[in-house]
Amino acid sequence: MNSLEVENVSISHKNKIAINNVSFKAQAGEIVGFIGADGAGKSSTLNALSGVINFDGKITYNNHSYKSPKEATTIKKDIGYMPQGLGLVLYDTLTVKEHFDFFTNIRDIDNTKQFQEYKKNLLSMANLEKFLDRKAHDLSGGMMQKLSLICTMLHRPSLLILDEPTTGVDPLSRIELWEILKQNAKEFGTICITSTAYMQEASKMDNILLFDEGKIIAQDTSDNLLKTVEPFVYEKTSSLKKHITVSDTTYSLEKLDVKKKIPTLDSLFFINALKKDKLLPKLDISKIEQKEKKTDVMLKANNLTKIFGDFIANKDVNIELKNKEILGLLGANGAGKTTFIKMLLGLLPIDGGELYLLGKNIKNAKDRKELKSKIGYVSQHFALYDDMSVRENMLFFASMHNIDKNKANALIDKYSKELGFVEYLEAFPKDLPLGINQRFSLAVAILHEPVVLFLDEPTSGVDSIARAQFWELLKILKTNRDISILITTHYMSEAEYCDRVVLLKDGEKIADDTVKNFYAKHPDAKEFEDIFLEYFR
Ligand SMILES: Nc1ncnc2c1ncn2[C@@H]1O[C@H](COP(=O)(O)OP(=O)(O)OP(=O)(O)O)[C@@H](O)[C@H]1O
Ligand SMILES: [Mg+2]
Repeated sequence: MNSLEVENVSISHKNKIAINNVSFKAQAGEIVGFIGADGAGKSSTLNALSGVINFDGKITYNNHSYKSPKEATTIKKDIGYMPQGLGLVLYDTLTVKEHFDFFTNIRDIDNTKQFQEYKKNLLSMANLEKFLDRKAHDLSGGMMQKLSLICTMLHRPSLLILDEPTTGVDPLSRIELWEILKQNAKEFGTICITSTAYMQEASKMDNILLFDEGKIIAQDTSDNLLKTVEPFVYEKTSSLKKHITVSDTTYSLEKLDVKKKIPTLDSLFFINALKKDKLLPKLDISKIEQKEKKTDVMLKANNLTKIFGDFIANKDVNIELKNKEILGLLGANGAGKTTFIKMLLGLLPIDGGELYLLGKNIKNAKDRKELKSKIGYVSQHFALYDDMSVRENMLFFASMHNIDKNKANALIDKYSKELGFVEYLEAFPKDLPLGINQRFSLAVAILHEPVVLFLDEPTSGVDSIARAQFWELLKILKTNRDISILITTHYMSEAEYCDRVVLLKDGEKIADDTVKNFYAKHPDAKEFEDIFLEYFR
């Protein structure tokens, strides 16, 4: 029987304590979930568990104790570890099949019938059967993530350690992955320790550990954790009492005179913030009147098509983004969302159809150049420079847009205040919590005051509070700056914040409507994920 015990594990980086006296146990077949704000200590704990760093305290797995990589050597064969980040365990120029062969070899896996069956299940979960010959660098973000996951799970480790394995993974694949994890737990007693930013996913775990500032501040089942916050969650209201209001929910430790709401695991984050007196900073982006007269349609794609070899990634896609609209582009991994955005930006040549941006028919590089100052972009892969500080990055991008240094510095001060990352200006991107990184990426994208924003999964892997703030920010940009936004996301709850949603499936548009109309057409749906699954199952 597998068993895991973590006793008083502490890790410090330079002078900063990453985790402090973390302790917990897990039994055979248990799935343990780590949740908490970005930078709360989840990844550090997972690093310790996987035996890749030195730490204080002790971890015991199946009667073998370790606190350094050397001591963990004997149990490495039993461990599968997937670190955080898109495609980190992959080799860019190897195909999907070559990855399988490589990991089968280095893990000395016997090619039994049972293994063949298991491999087939993994492939079907990841929807990669059709793409065995595709190289890793040609996969979509979510496909990369799923391939990494399969490679980690291939030797059926008895201790599976996954750091945000489903970031950027679509809802259907998340459900199927979950079935495989449960099956491994049941049949083989696999212990799985996984962090996640999807609270729906966390609610399925056997035990949830809530991390905050390097400590575990609560650990229990989902039901029990929800009970602890039940008294503090209300319908949206304005109140003089101390509270946090996000979207249509108000959180308050004091009793309010409005109807209660059923909490979700996201509520834990907001209640914890209230308890620590950390109210969300009021975000404010100054108003800019758009002087030029704008067209009503900011983007018009007529039958846009993209072909890679004999594979059609976008087929006759017709999409319109209207002035001051937030348009959500949703679809399974590999549906063609990023490809579409890359064509809009001129990062990929268009193979068919017509594109109009701000009323202008885009035919060549010259047409695009004239519009460069009007468009902002946040890419799916982190695209800023790791070896330059936040301020240096921002100065660099300002110079690319011919903004002079004085004005650039004034803008940097302004946005870092308005978006709440002043204290990180001299830090390097890799040292920032992901949520802060995303705000800083957004600040870079709006530095030159664009009128259209293309955002490719800007909230992937971002914690509940930071995501709520991010969306507040987008709404402010829309109202105060008349900015139109095209955004992709795999958080179905975020679809609700969009004015309109377009669904892409296998490169083709299959639906395009307001959120309200989607619900009207699917009366049984309780949340947007139900609607999504109806189209993609
Ligand atoms: N250079 C390329 N060569 C071959 N195929 C490619 C290339 N770039 C992308 N593709 C394929 O095009 C399809 C669409 O990829 P894209 O990145 O647009 O998907 P996506 O909808 O953004 O998915 P995700 O949600 O995972 O980010 C995928 O099957 C991908 O492997
Ligand atoms: Mg993508």
